Amino acid sequence: MKTIFSGIQPSGTLTIGNYLGAIQQFVELQNNYNCYFCIVDEHAITVPQDRLELRKNIKSLAALYIASGIDPDSSTLFIQSEVPEHTQLGWMLQSISYVGELERMTQYKDKSQGQEAISSALLTYPSLMAADILLYNTDVVPVGDDQKQHLELTRNLAQRFNNRFNDIFTVPEVRIPKVGARIMSLQEPSKKMSKSDTNQKGFISMLDEPKRIEKKIKSAVTDSEGIVKFDKKNKPGVSNLLTIYSSCTGESIADLEKKYEGKGYGDFKQGVANAVIDTLRPIQEKYEQLIQSDELDAILDQGRDKASLSAGKTIKKAKKAMGL
Ligand code: ADP
Ligand code: NA
Repeated sequence: MKTIFSGIQPSGTLTIGNYLGAIQQFVELQNNYNCYFCIVDEHAITVPQDRLELRKNIKSLAALYIASGIDPDSSTLFIQSEVPEHTQLGWMLQSISYVGELERMTQYKDKSQGQEAISSALLTYPSLMAADILLYNTDVVPVGDDQKQHLELTRNLAQRFNNRFNDIFTVPEVRIPKVGARIMSLQEPSKKMSKSDTNQKGFISMLDEPKRIEKKIKSAVTDSEGIVKFDKKNKPGVSNLLTIYSSCTGESIADLEKKYEGKGYGDFKQGVANAVIDTLRPIQEKYEQLIQSDELDAILDQGRDKASLSAGKTIKKAKKAMGL
């Protein structure tokens, strides 16, 4: 069976971008792959985090993974910082990463822009991400479109290590969903939807109440044409809403265009809101049960033990290959 690895940062409540771009495919793939799903808390601390907030977000992310349909008995769900091999291999891979290639990462450029004090970890983060993936002999990495460049670097680092030392790493493939790979901000459809956005109206959190979801979608930026048509370049707002709708219900974008032919944006937005609310309702119900129960700690301990087994074997080989 092939292996999958993917991670999500506990840097805020997940958005429907994270759900449609990442988690939804995890759930689809988990029966056919040996899966590792990680809560990448060490990535979250590359920018300042509040200690208590971070603890809360880690728990909440674990509950959201499971509430969305990740089965912690068949998949390995764990916290990155509980498996020290991640930072260990991360350091080894930093040693073969070039500052130049790290500086070229668009996420680094975006996140460091306008910042006075940029942590060095924000720059080297992709080397740690490569370690996350390579520790598990990962074949496939399902992610949203924004991670494509980091995945390319991971592949380069794996090959560089294999050539320079010993052929021990599997070179992973990236897997990006056909629809929903890049959900955009509702307020600035040229920007990707992100849980760390300061504009609350720009994203829908997976835990937003139905009323709030409806309000955010009703105030989403569109255009003055009044025509529900997919045209990313000229109608980015409407196209984004069509994408969200389609990835929630599985209806094709062409079918949705037909459904709303001759109707205004009011009807259309109500349809989008209903699709999102219906998608999130069962997840939110399950989440409420989980977060109040005390199951999560045991699940995460079990995940840590399973992950450590594989990570320990890889680090041993990698150290030997490098002469450590
Ligand atoms: P964020 O950018 O919201 O902080 P992460 O960096 O933790 O999220 O990304 C977790 C996963 O969610 C990654 O696979 C990423 O590609 C995906 N993802 C993040 N934002 C979006 C989006 N707007 N549309 C689709 N996928 C997304
Ligand atoms: Na991201």
